[in-house]
Formats: sequence, structure tokens, C-alpha cells
Amino acid sequence: MVKFGNLKRNYLSIKDEINEAVMRVLEKGWFVLGEEGTKFEEEFSNFCGKEFGVGVNSGTDALKLALKAINIQQGDEVITVPNTAIPTVMAIIEAGAKPVFVDVGEDYLIDVSKIENAITPKTKAIMPVHLYGQVCEMKTILRIAERNNLKVIEDCAQAHGAEYKGKRVPIGNIGCFSFYPSKNLGAYGEGGMIITNEEKVCEKLKLLRNYGQSSRYDAKILGLNSRLDEVQAAILRVKLKHLEGWNEQRRKYAQKYNQNLNEIIKIPKENLFNKHVYHLYVIALKNRKEIMENLKREGIDTGIHYPIPLHLQEAFNYLNYKAGDFPVAEKNSKEILSLPIFPELEESEISEVCEKLNGVLQSYL
Ligand SMILES: Cc1ncc(COP(=O)(O)O)c(C=O)c1O
Repeated sequence: MVKFGNLKRNYLSIKDEINEAVMRVLEKGWFVLGEEGTKFEEEFSNFCGKEFGVGVNSGTDALKLALKAINIQQGDEVITVPNTAIPTVMAIIEAGAKPVFVDVGEDYLIDVSKIENAITPKTKAIMPVHLYGQVCEMKTILRIAERNNLKVIEDCAQAHGAEYKGKRVPIGNIGCFSFYPSKNLGAYGEGGMIITNEEKVCEKLKLLRNYGQSSRYDAKILGLNSRLDEVQAAILRVKLKHLEGWNEQRRKYAQKYNQNLNEIIKIPKENLFNKHVYHLYVIALKNRKEIMENLKREGIDTGIHYPIPLHLQEAFNYLNYKAGDFPVAEKNSKEILSLPIFPELEESEISEVCEKLNGVLQSYL
């Protein structure tokens, strides 16, 4: 049996370090907004090559609060893609704005040639999603944003440590991360962070996440409760030390898949200048449903990221999109299949997935 993920293996591989970090917090007896959180904000923003980090409760909150921090308001439009995780769009809506979709390219990332057509007088920001662990074509996106006076907030939830032209995400001034347990850098619970070079954005985020308070019982703006707790921050500090090694392991396994899968399978395309960190290893093939079922019978777990493009989700009917509006995203959603990829997999398990998938494919050739 090859599982799609195995967080227990991850814990066991760093058990002593994690136990020590958790005990340190418990024995100190300070659980929210303390030293661990501040240190992790410093360490992770350094890792990303940016000045500030603001820890929050989730990746969704990171996106929502980042939008609020740049003054996105009711009626504003934010451009993003229809093939991303649901929370990208929920965050835009929660911030009061309207999501406007742009189709993706063969690399599953925003098709930059289509962005300018989607800009209206109401557009305030672009939210590119570095999906599966690969960075979007940021040079063009930042140029379009500058030309049209738009902000850019990068959804980096799947791209911790991913690079574009030698630089780690976020490439622009604001990027949002999720530390959901299965992410490349995952907590043992919920967590998120906004990384930025803009001091004003950082200051506003620190108010927003803590009831709008500048100090205890003194609220300056409307805010809410979205804080990264000390236990999660201490765990993430331990895991951050391993992130580069884990990302390398993911890249090694992606290479192994690339080299060993039958060539009729569309393998992920790593764009020039990019360092993909393979949060997911996504292939595309015909007859996906049957192949997925056959693999399951053979003991191989797979996933689909994502089966329903967001413009066709019931919750977003009110946006009035219809089938056919985003043909590439729609075609991809019918053909993509995510294979197991995580650092604690054994090399023999990657071989097993290749052999079984190539075997199952024989009946469709
Ligand atoms: C692309 C993307 N954006 C946003 C999120 C939201 O993160 P969280 O689950 O931490 O709220 C996720 C994770 O599920 C994601 O994959």
C-alpha cells in the first residue's frame, strides 16, 4: 500500500526535536503571541528573503487579512484562477471583493496573456497562485500590475521555498502561506503567515489579527482573532530547519517519476527559471477515473487537485460563470491526477507507483 500522505512518518523522523520544542512551550506557560511566534516570523521571513512576517491562524486568513491590509473593499475586483484550492476564492469573498477568473496555461498556472483582458475599472489586485509548488510568470504579472496600478498578493500556500530566477517566493511585495499539516512546511494544526517587505502592511496586519488592538484593550481599527499559537510556532521552527532538505527530496522523487513513467503520460512541466518544490506531483491522462480506481485496487493512493473548477462550484453560482468559460482549466480538471509525493516516501515506493501505473496503462494503449 502506498499512501498519498503520511504525517506520522514525518513526526517520527523528527520526534525528539518536536517533543523538546512542544515541552519548551508547555513549561513556559505562554501560549499566544509570544517569543516562539516572533522568532518564527523572523526566521521564516529571512528564509523567504523578505523583511516581515505576520503569523495568523490559517492560509485562508493570511489571504483575507492581506487583502484587508491593502484596503480591498466591497465591490472591488480581484483577479485569480479557477483552478486553485477553494480557500483562495473564499478569502477574496470574505474580504468583501468579487473574484474574477482568468484561465490557466498548460503549466496549470495563470495565463499571463489573458490577465489584461480581465481588468476593469473595479480591479484592485491580482492574486496569482503558485499552484502545486511552481511559481507563476511573476515578471510579467508585476509589470501588468504596475502598468494598471494594481496590487499583487501571491498565494504561496503550496510553494514554501519555491524559486523564480533564483529568488524565493513571494516575488512581489506580499505573499501568503498556509501551514496546514500536509503542506511542504506544515504545522500540527492550523497556521498561516503573510510575508512582506511593506512595513505599513505588516503593522496593519498585526492589528487586524488581534481584534484591531495596538496594545491590550486599545482597539485602533476593526479586527478579528487570527493568531498563530506558540505551540504551532515552536513546531514550525523545528520543521523550517528541514524544509530545504525535504524540498530536495520531493524534487528527486519528481525526477524519478519523470524518468520512469510511460511517455504517453503528461508529466508536470517545470518552467525555465523556476525551482518547483512539488507540493503535488500532477500528471494528466485520459481515462483518469478507471485508472485511478485500478491503482486503488493495486494499493496506490492518488488524488485530484482539483476535480471541479471554481467557476463551476455551486457556492460561486452567483458569479454567473458557465461551462466553457475557462476551457484549459476545465479540460485539466478532467485529466489531472496527483501521485504520492512526500519526503518520507521510500524510493522503492516511488518505483512501485511507476510500475503499477505503467502496468495499469497497458490496457489503454
Ligand atoms: C492554494 C491554496 N490557497 C489557500 C489555502 C488555504 O490554506 P488553509 O487551509 O491554511 O486555510 C490552501 C490550503 O488548503 C491552498 O492550497
